[in-house]
Amino acid sequence: MSARILDGAAVARQIRAELGPAVAAFAARAGRPPGLGIVLVGDNPASEIYVRNKLKAAGEAGLRADLSRLPATAPVADLLEIVERLNRSEAHDGILVQSPLPQAMGSDAERRVFDLIRPDKDVDGFHPVNVGRLVQNRATLVAGTPSGIIELLERSNITIAGARVVIIGRSDIVGKPTALLLLHRHATVTMCHSRTKNLPRVAAEADILVVAMGRPAFVTKAFVKPGATVIDVGVNRLTDRADVERILAAGSKGRQDFEERGSVLVGDVHPEVAEVAGALTPVPGGVGPLTIAMLLKNTLRAAQERAG
Ligand code: GUN
Repeated sequence: MSARILDGAAVARQIRAELGPAVAAFAARAGRPPGLGIVLVGDNPASEIYVRNKLKAAGEAGLRADLSRLPATAPVADLLEIVERLNRSEAHDGILVQSPLPQAMGSDAERRVFDLIRPDKDVDGFHPVNVGRLVQNRATLVAGTPSGIIELLERSNITIAGARVVIIGRSDIVGKPTALLLLHRHATVTMCHSRTKNLPRVAAEADILVVAMGRPAFVTKAFVKPGATVIDVGVNRLTDRADVERILAAGSKGRQDFEERGSVLVGDVHPEVAEVAGALTPVPGGVGPLTIAMLLKNTLRAAQERAG
């Protein structure tokens, strides 16, 4: 058996196409497009790519998107000032500060910055007010990756209600909000993490397995019940040939990419899982494109709410 591949890029295109008329209607009514302010601090190569993709997608969807940049050495006060300016801006409905912030900003910088963003402009859904609303199942702005996972499952006709879900990874950005969204849709949810005992055995009970831990190809066939749906949130760039040869089969697309570019992206799920899973998200082209589509949807939503 070979798993059905859940084409996140196609679902993301569909969501973006659905947004088009609503964005145009908002612009006609408000006399301006929905506006998104993105802030990038430092020059983390992965963040550069993510931000570039977000700006491009926003432009294509008819949104206004502005990028503010700071050097990695900037004091946190400079970043807080930019956030305050965007909080006051009439033209910006959404604010996104790309994570992670440089270490030099201090260990509490991210929390201070996310706490300062106005909850009604918090299109990442990271503000404690929005997290609290999510806990109580009355959220308006939910983080993009978790809500993208729900869209992908629902539009792929994978039943959530009653399903046994196991989530590996307890981050504030992915694991915890994904657990809440699935719980509200009547799944039975188990959260796993680095201290979980017998992890493969627990994971293998899942009808839907969500993996967001940041360890390349960690989840093997032993973690997966035959026929289960596996959502791979990991994005890991491999540059070491030994790693690539251990994970990717000779002649595979990934191996070709590595030979051409000297690096390749892999998820947290080993490719061998396709032999047992019922459905599987690819990396790249699975969850990633949905995160961006949901960011655009949140920006439109924030604009509509602000305009009344
Ligand atoms: N870094 C990785 N994913 C995200 C995200 O969804 N939002 C922000 N702000 N930073 C990220």
